[in-house]
Amino acid sequence: MTNSRIKKSGVVGWPVSHSLSPRLHNFWLKKYNIAGEYKAYPVKPEELPDFINNLRKDNDFAGVNLTIPHKEAVMELLDEVDDIATTIGAVNTIIYKNGRLLGTNTDAYGFSENIKPFISGKNKAVVLGAGGAAKAVLFALKQLGFSEIIITNRTRDRAEILSSVISHPLSVKNWENRNEILKDADLLVNTTSLGMTGKEALEIDLSLLPKTALVTDIVYSPLITPLLAQAQLRGNRLVDGLGMLLHQAVPAFEAWFGLRSEVTEELRQHVLAGIGL
Ligand code: ATR
Repeated sequence: MTNSRIKKSGVVGWPVSHSLSPRLHNFWLKKYNIAGEYKAYPVKPEELPDFINNLRKDNDFAGVNLTIPHKEAVMELLDEVDDIATTIGAVNTIIYKNGRLLGTNTDAYGFSENIKPFISGKNKAVVLGAGGAAKAVLFALKQLGFSEIIITNRTRDRAEILSSVISHPLSVKNWENRNEILKDADLLVNTTSLGMTGKEALEIDLSLLPKTALVTDIVYSPLITPLLAQAQLRGNRLVDGLGMLLHQAVPAFEAWFGLRSEVTEELRQHVLAGIGL
């Protein structure tokens, strides 16, 4: 088989060397015996337009994933951006078909699939943080059917902006009140960078959070963040952030290679080995 018959894909970021996506997609390519490749492409912000134009000229490309800092900047370089990516305001996946580049976002899907089997109630969800990741989480919570969504962020204005973007009853609370708003919540989601390896821990008192509530963190390094450890100690159910990464890759892989891949324990262990866990 010649190289030209191998479908190309990858992840574009700066820096990109820490990305687990090559490990994840290459596991599937091998498992399903697909003639494809998935590489990490280190592309500086100023090089992005050229990279995208070259991609357009290369018929071997099936598409790429985008990661920091390109998810927003890439939008104006594409032929089409679908509704979900437009609402979230970021593209994490490009699909190349018939000479056209389509941008979509699979982060909300990944978040949703990761927590779906563990949700106990859909009355009230509390979201901590209003950065880029929060938009996909809010979109997913709306689609999952949570009737009340409360968001709090250190910088209140950012949360206010999100509440106007995501058309869903969303109340914004002050960061100082984050302990009180946990009362009666069915779900607590941390979308801030607090708790990530090298960052300070999230300071929060979970006393008012029902023991039946599900707690999840989109951070996956470490796998058990201080928030998850604290929740585990008091008996709450947990979902770590790695599953979101695994699940968000499924629709992209399917669009590029035509096969619905599976998120399995074997995949999880393979990816975990990539972060030394
Ligand atoms: P991105 O947009 O890529 O998600 P970000 O802008 O760094 O990344 O957002 C990270 C989130 O973590 C934000 O909600 C941020 O709060 P601010 O909007 O107030 O910056 C939150 N965050 C980061 N450091 C924090 C800290 N020390 N205390 C509280 N929140 C923090």
